[in-house]
Amino acid sequence: MNVGLKRILRAGLVCLLLSLLPASGQTGGQQKPLMSEDVFKNIQVLKGIPVNQFMETMGFFSAALGYNCTNCHGTEVLGNWEKYANDTSVKQTARRMVLVVNTINQSLFAGREAVTCYTCHRGSPTPKVVPSLLEQYSEPPADDPNEVEISPRAPATPTADDTLNRYIQALGGAQRLAGLTSFVGKGSYDGFDSYHGKVALEVYAKNTGQRTVIVHTQNGDNVTVYDGRNAWIMGPDKPVSVLQLVPGGDMDGVKLDADLAFPNGLKQILTELRAGFPTTTINDREVQVVQAMAGGSRVKLFFDKQTGLLTRVVRYSKTIVGPVPTQIDYSDYREVAGVKMPFQWRLTWTDGQSMFSLDDLQPNVAIDPAKFAKPVAAEAPVVAPAKVAQ
Ligand code: HEC
Ligand code: HEC
Repeated sequence: MNVGLKRILRAGLVCLLLSLLPASGQTGGQQKPLMSEDVFKNIQVLKGIPVNQFMETMGFFSAALGYNCTNCHGTEVLGNWEKYANDTSVKQTARRMVLVVNTINQSLFAGREAVTCYTCHRGSPTPKVVPSLLEQYSEPPADDPNEVEISPRAPATPTADDTLNRYIQALGGAQRLAGLTSFVGKGSYDGFDSYHGKVALEVYAKNTGQRTVIVHTQNGDNVTVYDGRNAWIMGPDKPVSVLQLVPGGDMDGVKLDADLAFPNGLKQILTELRAGFPTTTINDREVQVVQAMAGGSRVKLFFDKQTGLLTRVVRYSKTIVGPVPTQIDYSDYREVAGVKMPFQWRLTWTDGQSMFSLDDLQPNVAIDPAKFAKPVAAEAPVVAPAKVAQ
């Protein structure tokens, strides 16, 4: 099966599963988040984690082994999502492996996340035993800029503060940024959930921390809302309920996206800011890297050395088996109300890639508060898994 198809399949299944969650526990603002064992039937080792993190863990397993969902769960899950609860021998092995990893980290690395599935598997179901002479004597593969880490040999300047100040300057300066209080963007989206066709995109944002993104896919609206305190995701064909994200965990990314829309406050919002990375490049352009914590998640921000603008953000969602990376690449900066804003961003994660493009961006417009309210699922019948997974 080709990689693209694998991804679509995997992503389709993830969306579908989230759509089938029961509505209980998700009404109202501050209820106890739904945990994996509240929703799924046969959870033995991944208990006590929020549903969204559970699905990210499945994405982590898939990425670590170069597998898709059916490699562990069998092809019968394609027609029937309930079959995910059935045990297969590969699934049993994976469960044992979670214990192996926990044991190694607990007993040999003082509980530090030193070893994960990826450490041994590196995208393959069969970890290698013999060193490869071909690898040893070939050109090394290109460096992955995301893997750059702080080094004592890197220059001490610019500091993280310098780089963020320069970024604010490059965008138009703090004063002009302060003049931007809201915006509404319209454009197009293309990703696995639009079958890689272009569909309509809407973005609403306010400097009070709210941000809503609506993608009108062929199967219904895919909505992400951050209201300044709570975050929800609602995917296509999810008539049953809307998933509320958990603060300090899977909500961090959605909150960070909202904060990045109005960067004046970034230095207050990001904590543990650090610089000291060796120079690295993205698309042959040198970038300056800053690391920070956004809530409980580590993030790396990559700024173009020449323009000072933000070109990439990589954030790491915590799961109990290891960090799952999400990468956003910003491009096509244009000036709106004296402020430079990215009109394009590409989202890359373990389950696929999506492109967001704006054609029109209206600054300082009044936005109906309902746009930042908990999304309301459409009244539509649940689509059979096979239909989504095609
Ligand atoms: C490397 C093997 C592996 C891969 C790949 C994998 N899973 Fe799983 N999955 C498991 C294991 C192991 C469990 C049981 C976890 C436990 O016992 O705590 C599980 C449990 C589940 C459950 C809970 C079922 C229930 O009701 O108990 C769902 C849903 C699920 N997986 C979905 C997926 C999806 C969707 C994908 C693809 C994105 C996927 N899995 C990929 C190993 C895998
Ligand atoms: C310390 C190294 C190591 C780590 C860490 C590790 N594995 Fe493995 N894994 C192995 C080895 C070795 C095999 C056996 C491969 C073989 O039989 O050739 C294996 C096999 C598997 C298989 C069976 C593959 C198949 O299709 O038969 C699964 C599934 C698996 N691992 C999942 C995981 C998961 C999930 C994690 C993280 C929770 C993980 N592994 C972490 C070393 C590791």
